[in-house]
Amino acid sequence: MDKLLEVKDLCKTFSNGNVQQHVLKNLNIEIYKGDFTIIMGSSGSGKSTLLYALSGMDKPTLGKITYGDEEISGYSNDKLALFRRKHCGFIFQQNYLNDTMSVMDNIMVNGLLVQKDRKAIYNKACELLSKVNIGEESYNKYPGQLSGGEAQRVSIVRSIINSPELLFGDEPTGALNSQNTVNVLDVMTELNNQGQSIVMVTHDIKSARRGNRILYLRDGVIIDELRLDKYVSGDRERHVKVKEFLEKMGW
Ligand SMILES: Nc1ncnc2c1ncn2[C@@H]1O[C@H](COP(=O)(O)OP(=O)(O)O)[C@@H](O)[C@H]1O
Ligand SMILES: [Mg+2]
Repeated sequence: MDKLLEVKDLCKTFSNGNVQQHVLKNLNIEIYKGDFTIIMGSSGSGKSTLLYALSGMDKPTLGKITYGDEEISGYSNDKLALFRRKHCGFIFQQNYLNDTMSVMDNIMVNGLLVQKDRKAIYNKACELLSKVNIGEESYNKYPGQLSGGEAQRVSIVRSIINSPELLFGDEPTGALNSQNTVNVLDVMTELNNQGQSIVMVTHDIKSARRGNRILYLRDGVIIDELRLDKYVSGDRERHVKVKEFLEKMGW
């Protein structure tokens, strides 16, 4: 398995006044190419904190994060921003689309950060939008005119327009109803099947079972992990396996 990301002795401490909260404590993980990696843990266990450190959105207090042969943990903010733009895509619980721009412009703006060929970006946007079932009639709509699920699918396209090696999701279906959740998870599963490496935080078992590797975070470290085959729909046995694993973790 090709290693994409390696984390050694990662610590993250927040200081609130004179109180120090040690959220991540000497955490070690490796993330592999092609995996749909899931991070689970109870609320407040530090899942988002870990995701932000892995993706260079925030700096660790201590520890080493290596991406390929780049050690990003020592990077300045500017260098980290460049690193993220080049290698990472992000989806969050909120879609953070710009409400004053059309669907297409939201995507184009992100593409233009990395390359200048408008036509090439536009063509790729069309191709990706069609993959997530957003038709031409929506290109000129504003995000406010879309359903929550459609908007989230547009934000996925925006996050992958520059072909990131790693796509990060922080509870990307957390604000969606169940049908939209399934649609978004289907899109992510499909992207993974086509080779997209994904790291997704979730507290929902239906989302977790889409992954082929589930990491469980407790007391600032990864206490265990479950490896699975790639997801296929309707696999009851998989659901049971994931449920048993989570119960064992005290979830
Ligand atoms: N920027 C911050 N400043 C201070 N405390 C923070 C900050 N971000 C997170 N925390 C604290 O770290 C802990 C873990 O938060 P978080 O990573 O958001 O958990 P999760 O995503 O698992 O719910 C929480 O107690 C939270 O209050
Ligand atoms: Mg969180």
